[in-house]
Amino acid sequence: MSLVNTKNMLKKAYEEGYAVGAFNVNNMEIIQGIMKAVTKLSSPVILQASSGARKYAGEIYMKKLVEAAEQESNVPIALHLDHGDSFEICKNCIDSGFTSVMIDGSSLNYEENVELTAKVSAYAHKYGVTVEGELGSLSGIEDEINITEIDSFYTNPNQADDFVKKTNVDSLAVAIGTSHGAYKFKPGQKAELRFDILEKIEKKLPGFPIVLHGASSVIPELVEEINKFGGKLGKASGIPESMLRKASKMSVCKINVDSDIRLAMTAKIRKSFFENPENFDPRKYLSPARDAIQAIVEHKILNVLGSENKA
Ligand code: G3H
Ligand code: 13P
Ligand code: ZN
Repeated sequence: MSLVNTKNMLKKAYEEGYAVGAFNVNNMEIIQGIMKAVTKLSSPVILQASSGARKYAGEIYMKKLVEAAEQESNVPIALHLDHGDSFEICKNCIDSGFTSVMIDGSSLNYEENVELTAKVSAYAHKYGVTVEGELGSLSGIEDEINITEIDSFYTNPNQADDFVKKTNVDSLAVAIGTSHGAYKFKPGQKAELRFDILEKIEKKLPGFPIVLHGASSVIPELVEEINKFGGKLGKASGIPESMLRKASKMSVCKINVDSDIRLAMTAKIRKSFFENPENFDPRKYLSPARDAIQAIVEHKILNVLGSENKA
């Protein structure tokens, strides 16, 4: 099957109450692990590459690895730019065959974010490429911020409506309590997603696909395994699966996962190094790492996304 944009993928997800997994890819083993899982469970998938991933693997390698995935599988695959921060990066990806791009103008002021995002949408749509915008701050809420200030970190539902109309984006990443990385909540802080805000956004934008970034669950068993085999992760914690499942039945149609893949891979490599200190054949530690990525993606599809048999 050829690469597709995210339009129909996310529309179907909205209508049928599930979410499509958007997994960050950086190398061959990660792509293979994800593809094995989605092919086995017949799930659509978004393979997303950040600027860092494109630099690490090289633009041509990244594209060719995804082409190999596309040749081997018949599930719908979108190749998406994650956190594009300029028009030029988005244009470069669109011109080189990405089917979807994110323009992340969330660090700009509102008017600048609107202007940049609208410019990317206008260019992308000429080539049938879908665009994800972002509104709100996912950077994490600091202790010294008071209750009224806290609300300004979350996506404002009225502004979301205005933003979508002015920019013509195809999906919108919102801030409702998730954050990037493995340390989403401070020790003692309760994991909380603001479903009240999500409902307000949904009312303002009925039928419109919402995206959750920073949605790894930071699976405790993986953190424990990493530490057991010499790692030094602190009090890592993520978004409970039940909250993500609830969101995926609502207007959240794309759920981004990177940290859980990193944890799964690192746990298996550390274990292999610890148990087989004499080994220096990378295939012997990358194979279990790839299997672990497959297992984690299968787990997400079945327990969080609900995207099995939706290809
Ligand atoms: O949201 C960011 C993703 O986890 C990608 O991270 O920029 O280190 O590739 P990266
Ligand atoms: P996590 O760090 O929670 O996996 O989020 C990844 C992400 O949002 C990529 O854009
Ligand atoms: Zn993100």
